Amino acid sequence: MRRVIIAGNWKMNKTISEALELVNGLKRELCDIEDIDIVVIPPFTALGEIADALTSSNIKLGAQDAHWEQKGAFTGEISPTMLKDIGVTYVVIGHSERRIYFGETNETVNKKVKSVLKTDLLPIMCIGERLEEREAGSTFDVIRDHIEGGLKGISEQDVLKVVIAYEPVWAIGTGKTATPAQAEEAHLYIRDLLKELYDESVAKNLRIQYGGSVKPENIKELINQEDIDGALVGGASLKTEEFVSIVKESAKKGV
Ligand code: 13P
Repeated sequence: MRRVIIAGNWKMNKTISEALELVNGLKRELCDIEDIDIVVIPPFTALGEIADALTSSNIKLGAQDAHWEQKGAFTGEISPTMLKDIGVTYVVIGHSERRIYFGETNETVNKKVKSVLKTDLLPIMCIGERLEEREAGSTFDVIRDHIEGGLKGISEQDVLKVVIAYEPVWAIGTGKTATPAQAEEAHLYIRDLLKELYDESVAKNLRIQYGGSVKPENIKELINQEDIDGALVGGASLKTEEFVSIVKESAKKGV
């Protein structure tokens, strides 16, 4: 049975005081949810304070990116070792915003995923097609390219620590969610691909989240799809009430 994972990607939002206010509200409202993984992913500047606030909480801490090297002359970068040091558990790698605005490629994604795994952190590897790719009928080709490229050279034992986030780019921040059927179709394709690249056990056990305009109004239908194991939430994770409602609805699948 795959454990449901709901993660809030705060992107470039929240000062430290705003971040603490949000996380304190989440701690209050979600303290008795035990059957699913809950993750908050603040900007780097708030990680230290949020890590302290989450001590002995059921909410885990994530970071939005990491460099592939552990230290050195890479001005502006943060390494997996530094993230581990501050109390991070999950690291988002290859978000479409990083692919689009910051030149992230399958090759850099692959190096980062490997480095995160080597540091005993858990990568959330993002994949997904753009609108023009979906319209051109190449959704599955893009998914294959992102998965094959991102997971290249990763062993069966390690790959089970990876969470894949399927985030169709056209659904991110647009209010346009993939229909549950569209999302399920993509997730099923990913599982088939994992079976081809690894085996039945990896296909069955690896967790796949959906991301793209997830809200309290659509989480129920999405999470109830057989192959959707959670959500990577952007905008709605910035509001206590909305994220709480998404987590609570998802927790019904966890039990
Ligand atoms: P939205 O939920 O704001 O569409 O963002 C999704 C996302 O990119 C999460 O990583």
